Amino acid sequence: MKLLFRSIYRVFTMSKPQVVFVLGGPGAGKGTQCSNIVSKFGFVHLSAGDLLRAERNKPDSKYGELIDTHIKNGTIVPVEVTCKLIQNAMEASTANRFLIDGFPRNKDNMTGWTRTIGDQVELLFVLFLDCPEEICIERCMKRGAAGSGRADDNLESLKKRIVTFVNDSMPIIEHFKEKNLVKKVEAGKNAADVWVEICKLFKDL
Ligand code: C5P
Ligand code: MG
Repeated sequence: MKLLFRSIYRVFTMSKPQVVFVLGGPGAGKGTQCSNIVSKFGFVHLSAGDLLRAERNKPDSKYGELIDTHIKNGTIVPVEVTCKLIQNAMEASTANRFLIDGFPRNKDNMTGWTRTIGDQVELLFVLFLDCPEEICIERCMKRGAAGSGRADDNLESLKKRIVTFVNDSMPIIEHFKEKNLVKKVEAGKNAADVWVEICKLFKDL
């Protein structure tokens, strides 16, 4: 009901959809914490990684092979593909608040977003899940061993994903930090303790 009122409110006030970007290394807990935020605060969760995996799995997708190669190599898919998937998902939703997880991951992501969607939304802040590298690796290896089915939850891909995070994604977080848009949470702790910290950031929105 709340969402319905929000959508009606949006139509009348022509207010822009609100966005929180969720960034952090592989295994930082982006997916886990985003589903907590969805349950408690009514955001819609769009994971760039999940959208790309879904697109790759479509038998008729012309991007399937390209996406698969990038995912296995831990490198970043060209923004034209990723942004379109995000945009389609936003347009298909009546929600007014979106968590966009795993995006923007590099400069190409950033400029593509600014060019195509940036002005049409209100960026509330960037949630940065700051997690030590060893914990990231341990969590993803565990996830892989437990049957995540992900082609990149293995040591070889993980090392590449971490290099990409440090070299390509950290500068994006720095860029947002300079604009005072980053809210950082220590994400190496257990999920329940991280959640307590995240609640403090969302409760007054
Ligand atoms: O966020 P997640 O760990 O699910 O991302 C998995 C992979 O999806 C990344 O390592 C990358 O290859 C691809 N990806 C991308 N661009 C994004 C987000 C994810 O290319 N913005
Ligand atoms: Mg994820």
